[in-house]
Amino acid sequence: SAVPVLTIDGPSGAGKGTISRLVAARLGWHYLDSGALYRGVGVAAGWAGLDLADPGALIRCAFDAHIGFEEDAAGELRVIVNGVDATDELRTETAGAAASAIAAVPEVRAALRERQRAFRRPPGLVADGRDMGTVIFPDALHKVFLTASPEERADRRYKQLKDKGVSVTLDDLLREILARDARDANRAVAPLRPAEDAVCIDTTGLGIDAVVERVLAVVSAAR
Ligand code: C5P
Repeated sequence: SAVPVLTIDGPSGAGKGTISRLVAARLGWHYLDSGALYRGVGVAAGWAGLDLADPGALIRCAFDAHIGFEEDAAGELRVIVNGVDATDELRTETAGAAASAIAAVPEVRAALRERQRAFRRPPGLVADGRDMGTVIFPDALHKVFLTASPEERADRRYKQLKDKGVSVTLDDLLREILARDARDANRAVAPLRPAEDAVCIDTTGLGIDAVVERVLAVVSAAR
């Protein structure tokens, strides 16, 4: 496909969502939040009372779940799962943990593969996730791998959640982040790792604007 793609992969809390959205807006490209698809299936499975240890049920759920994206009046992206606005529920650590569990099932990943590729439309796509550069868009011209120290990622999550009035402790968040990283990096299918041709950017200590500029520099360097 001639439609350009910028893949932004990395561990949870590295700022992929914020950076990807801003970069997509700057480039005027579409945006794919692939984690929202996995979270959407996780939430749909929860609503249906499915057992996260029953791969067959999860695979059926991944094929059947309808996950749509809509922009609200404020320009915020809303995620609609089976007709219900699930945006807030999707952001919880429970949904993240469910997503990470179902994402380890190869057939669930296969069920979501073509849905992700369908986001590649002119004039371009910024795709945010774990395997965008390695599995979903291996031919992408631009690939970035965003990291930050686990402590900084836990700290960012903590501030985000506190702003939303969610009560958590920094220690618990750090533990959850390390557990999710380990599960994502050690799974047999599509483990979290940088594509060979990805540019790694360590965002520890960097502000949002500085990271956006570095990512945009990767895109202009390859043009
Ligand atoms: O990026 P986000 O935190 O929303 O992703 C939630 C979970 O979904 C991740 O921990 C990971 O297990 C899974 N995921 C994935 N592949 C992607 C995006 C997300 O396995 N491309």
